[in-house]
Amino acid sequence: MRAVTWQGRRKVSVDNVPDPTIKEPNDAIIRVTSTNICGSDLHLYEVLGAFMSEGDILGHEAMGVVEEVGRDVDGLKVGDRVVIPFNISCGHCFMCDQGLQSQCETTQNRDQGTGAALFGYSKLYGEVAGGQAEYLRVPQAQYTHIKVPVDGPDERYVYLSDVLPTAWQAVEYAAVPDGGTLVVLGLGPIGSMACRIASHRKGCKVIGVDLVDERLDRARDYCEEVIDLRRDDADEVVKSHTQGRGADSVIDAVGMEAHGSPIAEAAQTASGFLPSPVGRVVMKRAGVDRLAALNSAISLVRRGGTISLSGVYGGAADPINLMTLFDKQIQLRMGQANVKRWVPDIMPLLTADDPLGVEQFATHRLPLEAAPGAYETFQKKEDGMVKVVLTP
Ligand SMILES: NC(=O)c1ccc[n+]([C@@H]2O[C@H](COP(=O)([O-])OP(=O)(O)OC[C@H]3O[C@@H](n4cnc5c(N)ncnc54)[C@H](O)[C@@H]3O)[C@@H](O)[C@H]2O)c1
Ligand SMILES: [Zn+2]
Ligand SMILES: [Zn+2]
Repeated sequence: MRAVTWQGRRKVSVDNVPDPTIKEPNDAIIRVTSTNICGSDLHLYEVLGAFMSEGDILGHEAMGVVEEVGRDVDGLKVGDRVVIPFNISCGHCFMCDQGLQSQCETTQNRDQGTGAALFGYSKLYGEVAGGQAEYLRVPQAQYTHIKVPVDGPDERYVYLSDVLPTAWQAVEYAAVPDGGTLVVLGLGPIGSMACRIASHRKGCKVIGVDLVDERLDRARDYCEEVIDLRRDDADEVVKSHTQGRGADSVIDAVGMEAHGSPIAEAAQTASGFLPSPVGRVVMKRAGVDRLAALNSAISLVRRGGTISLSGVYGGAADPINLMTLFDKQIQLRMGQANVKRWVPDIMPLLTADDPLGVEQFATHRLPLEAAPGAYETFQKKEDGMVKVVLTP
């Protein structure tokens, strides 16, 4: 089959690789019909490259049709239309029982000290082949799937794999009080969907922040105000909306590769260039993130407010301003999205009248073969690219 593979720092290619097969009785194989590129893939493309091996298949936002099921997979049959959550979880352990599927104890990577296995996400998360391919092997398939109706385009459902539950969890964790103010930092797919969800659920004022024209423009319809970091003073604008106090809640939908942290950027680039085993040790023990967005969140949130981090961080030695976090009495919540937990809340919104605008959400639909160029354009934020859906 054809698959998008990691080949080195800022280098992916589309190659012929062996078709996946059932290896465990609770595996399934799906034929992928749509598969997205995510901001999280950009971390592998560059900063977390030390954890990748040449030939690893990328991707964790796939949907398709079931081709084959292992003998222990109940409730799923050949021909079912499914979206595959980015986390692989069993559905019956201590963590899954409390809706913490991203911490599943059956698929945790104890050798790496990390949570549940993820599709296409490096040695840190189980080295499971990803979904930017014609076919995908799904472990723990009895639970790691979301059945979707046969009608409606793929784009109505495909974001259940990641964008929708991640943005939903970001809004839940932000815990904005009724009538309060929510600032969303970063208006990529995750941040812009968080603005849509918060504005759909109503009851709060949403302010979006970014520094790329088309990302700011896309968010205007769902925000009371957008702040362009290239020219506006975010602290001043947020204070003007909040009687000088700051926002009740802030979502950081930017993460470790924020613009505006030149020293950490140099350190990340340096560890990205070290030979892989060395780069891995450096990143795990002494890695630093670009903290510009987190620092903005700490500054923009009011005393006693909440910061919800959905942007991914990976630094083990980050210099974080604990003094201000403590002094302002800030609540901090974060983590990979527990995809399956939020599906029952989101599914009723995926209807033909499309209140969250998912069917127009992608800026680019491209063939799988176009992935190398799409990664480059997405990383550079060129060509108005915000979300890419690939067709195998
Ligand atoms: N928690 C989860 O389960 C989960 C799931 C998916 C994605 N993510 C993470 O969420 C983050 C966003 O993902 P995405 O797909 O939207 O990616 P993206 O890279 O397209 O979006 C990031 C946005 O942040 C903006 N930005 C950069 N620096 C900024 C700053 N200092 N202040 C404000 N905005 C800034 C960029 O211009 C861009 O629009 C990534 O870190 C990704 O890894 C987390
Ligand atoms: Zn993703
Ligand atoms: Zn589990």
